[in-house]
Amino acid sequence: MNKSALPLVIVSHALPDGWLDLLQDKCQLVIGPEESEGLTPELENWLPETQGLFSLLTLKVDDKLLSRAPNLKVVSNMAVGFDNVDINSCTKRGLPVGHTPGVLTDGTADLTMAIMLAAARRITEASQDARQGRWKTWSPTGWLGMDFRDATLGIVGMGQIGSGVAERALGFGMKIRFTDSNLKHDLADRFKAKQVPLETLLKSSDIVTLHVPLTAETHHLINEERLKSMKSNALLVNTSRGLIVDNNALVSALENKWIAAAALDVTDPEPLPTDHPLFGLSNCLIVPHIGSATWNTRRKMAERACENLIAGLHEQRLPYCANPEVYNA
Ligand code: GLV
Repeated sequence: MNKSALPLVIVSHALPDGWLDLLQDKCQLVIGPEESEGLTPELENWLPETQGLFSLLTLKVDDKLLSRAPNLKVVSNMAVGFDNVDINSCTKRGLPVGHTPGVLTDGTADLTMAIMLAAARRITEASQDARQGRWKTWSPTGWLGMDFRDATLGIVGMGQIGSGVAERALGFGMKIRFTDSNLKHDLADRFKAKQVPLETLLKSSDIVTLHVPLTAETHHLINEERLKSMKSNALLVNTSRGLIVDNNALVSALENKWIAAAALDVTDPEPLPTDHPLFGLSNCLIVPHIGSATWNTRRKMAERACENLIAGLHEQRLPYCANPEVYNA
């Protein structure tokens, strides 16, 4: 088949072999390097012709980029979050935006538990101390941490990932509180979970874990005042988006022991500069945005993004659309 007769699609970043198989015979692909900030100049040159854009969360899909792509029919973001995409601008242009909910729920919930447990039991600190010769004896008071059983876990945002965390936390014997009123009653019953206002959740939880999308309303949701309202022995876990937490306030909270510790998979900015004060704090565990980082999950995300892209190219409704309002126009 003459490839040039197929719709042109920009894939912002290279992916492993096989992940884009669904697109191979259906599009003419121009693919960026594995790691680049934004689109390379070569990829930008294809913007006027492209009909599809396959983006990662590191690509800012803003009005400026969109205005250079007048033939675009679909933006397909390989992520559940889509705060890197100017949704209003896409909707105004009649452009559906795809995202990938569902397939990363387990991976992200697992990682949330992993860093929660690591911070609660001071795993990185203890491991470094062992390696660096600070393990002198079995000390009754060495590296003491927090128990999970009977701890109160506050889940801010009880969507798919928040519910996945609740399911796991139940197995650890935690008491679950959440803020979201959309959770179905049977699920709340299954998790023995109680819905409370955010302020109550923050005041009463031993561990607070964040699972809301980044929007104008959730930007700096966890600010100085709210950090000060938390228990002084509390742990804050963030696997959603860095900007949900006011970073400067978090540094103060950890330095001044308003809270005991934090475990972060996401930061503001990303990557966090290595000289950032948060890296200097032994009560702050930071991993580099790896919530969905398993082979299986990432491949499924890529496939879901391909499915959205193909639907968009055919002007069919996207199976996972971030701006369904685009179809009301
Ligand atoms: C990851 O952070 C995602 O939104 O998929």
